[in-house]
Order: sequence, then C-alpha cells, then structure tokens
Amino acid sequence: MKGVILAGGFGTRLAPFTNATCKHLAPVYSKDKGAVPIIHYPINTLKKSGIEEILIITSRDHCGHMVQTLGDGKDLNVNLTYKIQEMDRSPTGIAQALKLSEVFVCQENFAVILGDNFFEDSFEKEIKEFEDYWSLANKAAIFIKGVTDPERFGVAEIDVQGVVSNIVEKPKVPKTNWAVTGLYFYTPAVFEILPSLKPSNRGELEITDVNNYYVKSKNLLSYKLKGFWHDMGTVNSMIETQNYINS
Ligand code: G1P
Repeated sequence: MKGVILAGGFGTRLAPFTNATCKHLAPVYSKDKGAVPIIHYPINTLKKSGIEEILIITSRDHCGHMVQTLGDGKDLNVNLTYKIQEMDRSPTGIAQALKLSEVFVCQENFAVILGDNFFEDSFEKEIKEFEDYWSLANKAAIFIKGVTDPERFGVAEIDVQGVVSNIVEKPKVPKTNWAVTGLYFYTPAVFEILPSLKPSNRGELEITDVNNYYVKSKNLLSYKLKGFWHDMGTVNSMIETQNYINS
C-alpha cells in the first residue's frame, strides 16, 4: 500500500504563523526529539503501519520549506515524493488534492492521511485486511473516533457491522459523536468518482462527498480507533495534542 499525505490548504486557523509558512511545519512537542514539525507525526503513522512510499501534496507557496525540512525522507526512513496543489485555482479542497495523487498511486491501493492529524494507533492489521479482502470488492474505509465536539468534523452514522450509512460534514446538530478522522483507505477506483464531485458551500471538493459516494452502495467501512486521536489545525487542538504526547 502507498501513502498520500495532504498538506496543502491555507492554515488560516494558525495565522499569523501560516502567513510565512504552512501549519504542517509548525513545531510540536516530541518525546524523543524535543520538537518536530507537525507533519512528522502523520509520516510516522504511515511508517509504523508499514508504508514507506509516500507522496506529500503541498502548496506552491510552501513547497520550498517542506522539501528543505523533509528532503527525500531518508532521515525518517521513508521515501518521499512531492506534488504541488495550486491554491489559487478553484475549486480547492481535500478531494481536489486527492486527484493529484493518481499518477503516483498508479494501480495500488493507498492510504490518505491529513498532514495535521495525530494518531496514537498504527494500522498494520487494518492495512492487511484491506489489501487481502476489502480492496478486492472495491470498498473504501474510514477511521472514526468518539469525540465531545463532533460539530468540528465530518460526523458518521454507522450500523452494527461498522458499515457507514451517512456522513455529514460539520453538522450544526450532529446525529452521533463519531468524528471521521483524517485517515482513509482507497483503491485506484476512487479516481473514477472524483470528476463527478461538485464544490461545497465553502467552494471546496470535500472528502466527505467522496466517502458518501461509497455510502450509497454500502461500500464504506469504518474502523474505530482505540488510541488517542486529534487534529492539530487550531491552537487549542495543537496544545491538547502536545499535552497528551507529554503525559
Ligand atoms: C477535514 C474533513 C473532516 C474531518 C477532519 C479531520 O476537516 O473535511 O471530515 O473530520 O478533516 O481532521 P478540516 O480540518 O479540513 O476542516
């Protein structure tokens, strides 16, 4: 399985830091190294799950810093490739970034991870199950976590077998507390869905619309995370994550 890290976006919730560079390079606490850029965490999640071939999608403005910080990935024992997401061409969004990974992914299954997400778990078992079984039926998988503030996220409804029956992006009144985290497994068939997406109210191609496409045919599976999960896209969520790492 290959890995794709989505690290474009404007990072407005972390301004003024993000006036100069991208949020994924903001320093966060690390037990081993003192401080590391945020993006070390999703790289490490892929690495400890057995994925070493990784594409990073980054914006034109900040790709220089990104490459200078991470290089070819040798220091982190991974093999990094980069692709530019032009942020001034609409529509933008996570699903638009996904389109850019088609050539890199080629005919392989792949994991997509958001560049500001922290996962305590690793996913060798789920990758094996997806590769050996679910991908053959062209299913996709998401990872969910019970949270107290679901309105900040995509929110999933699931049945007893873990099949997803609906996802709503940042609902005002969430129907469940299952947040959709920033980790997704797809087969290359996902690239056939992307051209049919329409921009959302915020002018973006949404990953939730990609996943709801699979929902319609009951082909979206969910795994519940056991360990800690947080995004680091706001000052508060960054502080909470660092407090957890430091605990
Ligand atoms: C994105 C997704 C959302 C998901 C979240 C996880 O939101 O759109 O469905 O729950 O990542 O971090 P964003 O952080 O881009 O607002």
